[in-house]
Amino acid sequence: MARIIAGVTSSHVPAIGAAIDLKKTEEPYWKRVFSGFEKSKEWMANAKPDVVIAVYNDHAFDLTIVNKMEVDHGLTVPLNLMFGSPAQWPCPVIPLAVNVVMYPPPTGHRCYMLGRAIRKAVQSYPEDLRVVVMGTGGMSHQISGPRAGLINSKFDKAYLDGLSRDPKKLARISHMEFMREAGAEGIEMVMWLIMRGALDDKVKEVYRFYTVPASNTAVGHIILENIERKTKARRPAPVRESPSKGRRAAAHPANQVMVRSKR
Ligand code: DHB
Ligand code: FE
Repeated sequence: MARIIAGVTSSHVPAIGAAIDLKKTEEPYWKRVFSGFEKSKEWMANAKPDVVIAVYNDHAFDLTIVNKMEVDHGLTVPLNLMFGSPAQWPCPVIPLAVNVVMYPPPTGHRCYMLGRAIRKAVQSYPEDLRVVVMGTGGMSHQISGPRAGLINSKFDKAYLDGLSRDPKKLARISHMEFMREAGAEGIEMVMWLIMRGALDDKVKEVYRFYTVPASNTAVGHIILENIERKTKARRPAPVRESPSKGRRAAAHPANQVMVRSKR
């Protein structure tokens, strides 16, 4: 069965991509940002996922003008931060673009539940694949209007804490609260809840990085691992019912667990 081993989030500031392309990663401003991903690249190289599901938000999406959608910085920047910039990603990447441009954008709760559905879908896949889910965007930022340049570090840091420990609380943040506290583009942070919904309730936070500013926002980044469950080898279940019924029941894995738990 396929399983989700970990979730990764990161801001996806387009200027990070430009800094890579223009070879500015060693300049002090950018070194501060890139140095935060050295450990993450190591972690990814060790994790060696078979598949990455990359959840990112669109930035200019209209069904009436777009019939072929190319991936944008929402996908490419975090992949560059996590894998470096190889000619080809080391594993298949499934892009999942989520609208936050056209009305109505999804609520955090809806995103969290989408993550739950992704988890179910992954687990229903028979092949033994190890999957990493990424959620990109944020953190607090506003690109235009009178509040352009807004960054709310207190909100950002509380969001990182909540993502690890109490994501259901984050799923209750309304659009108005995102707008007020995190600026017009802060809504991008609902992507992170898709990633978090795809993980187990309890996770191990293995890495966190926060630096401000990078372009118009902070770079917030976190790696959460699902805690591996050790399954004990069990003795075969005794068949208690009539032989034909019992045999039929034991043939289905879910039923085998039911028969055992009655002992
Ligand atoms: C910036 C951040 C974004 O998430 C984005 O999509 C565009 C620009 C920025 O900080 O400049
Ligand atoms: Fe963005």
